[in-house]
Amino acid sequence: MTRKILVTSALPYANGSIHLGHLVEYIQTDIWVRFQKMQGHEVHYVCADDTHGTPIMLRAEKEGVTPEQLIERVHAEHSADFADFLVAFDNYYSTNSEENRELASGIYKALKANGKIATKTIEQFFDPVKRMFLPDRFIKGECPKCRAKDQYGDSCEVCGATYNPTELINPYSAVSGAAPVRKETEHYFFKLSECEDFLRNWTRSGTLQPEAANKMGEWFESGLSDWDISRDAPYFGFEIPDAPGKYFYVWLDAPIGYMASFKNFCTKNALDFDEYWKKDSKAELYHFIGKDILYFHALFWPATLEYSGYRTPTKVFAHGFLTVNGEKMSKSRGTFITARSYLEHVKNPEYLRYYYAAKLNGTMEDIDLNLEDFVARVNSDLVGKYINIASRTAGFISKRFGGELEPSAANAVIDELQAQAQTIADSFDQRDYGRALREIMRLADIANGFVADKAPWVIAKNPDAEGELQAVCSDALEMFRLLTLYLKPVLPGLAAQIERFLNVPALSWASAGQRLPAGHRIQAYEHLITRIDPKQIEAMTEANKENLQPQSNAPAAATPVPEEPHHISIDDFSKVDLRIARIVNAEHVEGAEKLLKLSLDIGEEQPRQVFAGIKSAYDPETLKGRLTVMVANLAPRKMKFGLSEGMVLAASDERGGPYILSPDSGAQPGMRVK
Ligand code: 2FM
Ligand code: ZN
Repeated sequence: MTRKILVTSALPYANGSIHLGHLVEYIQTDIWVRFQKMQGHEVHYVCADDTHGTPIMLRAEKEGVTPEQLIERVHAEHSADFADFLVAFDNYYSTNSEENRELASGIYKALKANGKIATKTIEQFFDPVKRMFLPDRFIKGECPKCRAKDQYGDSCEVCGATYNPTELINPYSAVSGAAPVRKETEHYFFKLSECEDFLRNWTRSGTLQPEAANKMGEWFESGLSDWDISRDAPYFGFEIPDAPGKYFYVWLDAPIGYMASFKNFCTKNALDFDEYWKKDSKAELYHFIGKDILYFHALFWPATLEYSGYRTPTKVFAHGFLTVNGEKMSKSRGTFITARSYLEHVKNPEYLRYYYAAKLNGTMEDIDLNLEDFVARVNSDLVGKYINIASRTAGFISKRFGGELEPSAANAVIDELQAQAQTIADSFDQRDYGRALREIMRLADIANGFVADKAPWVIAKNPDAEGELQAVCSDALEMFRLLTLYLKPVLPGLAAQIERFLNVPALSWASAGQRLPAGHRIQAYEHLITRIDPKQIEAMTEANKENLQPQSNAPAAATPVPEEPHHISIDDFSKVDLRIARIVNAEHVEGAEKLLKLSLDIGEEQPRQVFAGIKSAYDPETLKGRLTVMVANLAPRKMKFGLSEGMVLAASDERGGPYILSPDSGAQPGMRVK
């Protein structure tokens, strides 16, 4: 029976690049979609950029462009990244679309008509300079628990406490630096508290993984609060129909973006949107997400759909986070790697697809990209085992037999490969790609054993064994075809190349039951893939290292003197915004061996906080009031001890240091250094 299946991945925010962490999900979903399509089902895979909200509005402002310009540029970047990783959306749209505006308004009106919307006056922090209400992340101050300075309004990075922004000591706006005032405002709420019975039932109907269902249990235990779905102007988003100056909170219209993207796709392809979204629809709906946004997808989203008259999701599949070399991705270690940077250094997207697939198992466990293991695994599995089968046999078929196959009458290895089609399919279907690939590699081992046993390169020396040579190589290529078919959801680009080489139509799961017939002609074998050189990985992590702090005066003897000067253009240099800064405060950082925390005045409203690796050479007291030079436009960097918003220039080598730089007298804070 052909199933109608609609699949989504979470919508990435339109203010950042796609990185290797994001790709876990898109690759996971894409493999599943390709697999289901190979089964012959009617599958549509849609996604979009998540474009609304305060961070995107402020980011555009900072860049001096309109939010529309920003999201258009990012849409192009994201689309290219996904295409280059062979993530094949049927539609990649935007939440800032007419379809989404209409759907969001319609859903809101339906919720209201069903008595699920309430208004409430709340008190919120307001930035009196910028004249806007501040989201929690844009309020900073001292942690109410440990008094660490410059902590965000929702949690402390030093002691890990979570709290309300109103509890911060000496709060200030991260937008303007001004002290925020408390101000009353009317907000719109979705009455989630009234949806508990429905949600308990929905959870029980097998829609969630066991770990996710447990999480839901905890949430029910602690009680469901109503959900604040409105924000005040200025806000980049959709205005609420009957409430001028009030906007839908980005998380209200983001999942509706799944529907909007599909609606847009339906219009372009003459499909029936309602067939997929009406209550009691027979079509299946699957959302792939990260475990961090389970609350939105397992509580708000099904309740929103249920009470606005739509169908609810068939299943929500949550995955874990990505670690690299066992740790959180880190800019200082160079493991915060963008999709683009991976492509520039490693080139082949299918290596990452293969490695992620090998690690994925359908649970919410985190997965680790161990870079050394990545190289070893790809080289040994893909090059050493899989491609090897063709590279050792195809040449004989082209050179000796004009590309014509003549398989043997019976081959137990081929039988075994064909017999596993269903087991492998089940693993893919259950998103246990790790298990699927272990089975496929076991089969590749058997196939390699067959080739090694028969040793066609030995048979080839015997002029009387032409028939045997042709049969052995033909059989090996049949094995290669089957392995290619099984790997195709993971390695679609390579599979397409091999389909051309084998001269066969697009492989589907059903073709596992067929065989290449006698007399079938293949194309000449061309080199298919190359080993990864560990140097490529090294270059990638080097290129991604954001070295923001002058290093301590550890002996620099091992640092080689560059043989040739590395030239940069004046344009490159002028990208660095160097400023005269006054050190208004300097202090020790508890638990930091090398760092001092500096507050630097560069003529902005709020001093910059910078962590500098100069503790070994300076007593903080002697630094207060001094002038120095700072890099003012480095991307702010989150460190263990707080946010570092720049870098101080200092000299050091094996002779000593660090020595921080000072301007001649007369220089004033904020002056540009050129
Ligand atoms: O967490 C995020 O990155 C969100 N942009 C995901 C949105 S998914 C969906 F609900 F739109
Ligand atoms: Zn704290």
